[in-house]
Amino acid sequence: MVTQRIPWVVGISGASGTPYAAAVLRGLLDAGEDVDLIVSRSARLTLLDEAGIRFHQTNWRAELKNWIVRDLDNVVNWRIDNFAAGPSSGSYRTKGAIIVPASTASVAGIYLGISKDLLQRAGEVTLKEPRPLAIVVWETPLRQATLNQLAALSGEGAIIFPASPAFYAGSESVQQLVDFVAGKVLDVLGVDHNLYRRWTGGAFTVTTQFGVMWEMEDILDRAC
Ligand SMILES: Cc1cc2nc3c(=O)[nH]c(=O)nc-3n(C[C@H](O)[C@H](O)[C@H](O)COP(=O)(O)O)c2cc1C
Repeated sequence: MVTQRIPWVVGISGASGTPYAAAVLRGLLDAGEDVDLIVSRSARLTLLDEAGIRFHQTNWRAELKNWIVRDLDNVVNWRIDNFAAGPSSGSYRTKGAIIVPASTASVAGIYLGISKDLLQRAGEVTLKEPRPLAIVVWETPLRQATLNQLAALSGEGAIIFPASPAFYAGSESVQQLVDFVAGKVLDVLGVDHNLYRRWTGGAFTVTTQFGVMWEMEDILDRAC
């Protein structure tokens, strides 16, 4: 029996935060997942600006491989203007979609169902089926319209991730902060990963990233 390929759709839109996309892609591929990639036209600008990669249909494989340093056997790249692509249809099986980073324009487009390109269409299809839709939005500050759209999308079942890291899981490097956000996304989608160091609790017996044990209890014990 041939096992059917059921990919995660990863949509990269033109917001800042392309390193989050790289970390999510690495996490998915390391977990043995299949990926259908959709890169918006504006994302090609942010990819050039932030990652120095020239993403184009003719050379995407080499550029992506250099960027995320992974084999791409499990990756299919769909053209952003290809509405005949698999993720354009609900009958095309996927595990869900991750828009990372999500621009406010892509948030608005998915919310309104504009489907101006394949990324927005894939987002809309994921919601309507319904399948898990993770939206890792980056913009700051956020205007009220975007906040309202995010709230409405959350009400429809989308999972909204502010692209902002916590610092408790290790903050010695930018990559740790990036991986934390990607790891949280994969956590919620049920994909195993090793992207960040989890908080283990243990009632104040924790070792922090600075190697400090017990001090938290000392701090709480001190009279305030
Ligand atoms: C270098 C660069 C950085 C940008 N950063 C952001 C951003 O952080 N958030 C955002 O919502 N839009 C940002 N934009 C604007 C979007 O790219 C623009 O709204 C575009 O229409 C988004 O289209 P898309 O959602 O189809 O990718 C940026 C544009 C450029 C060129």
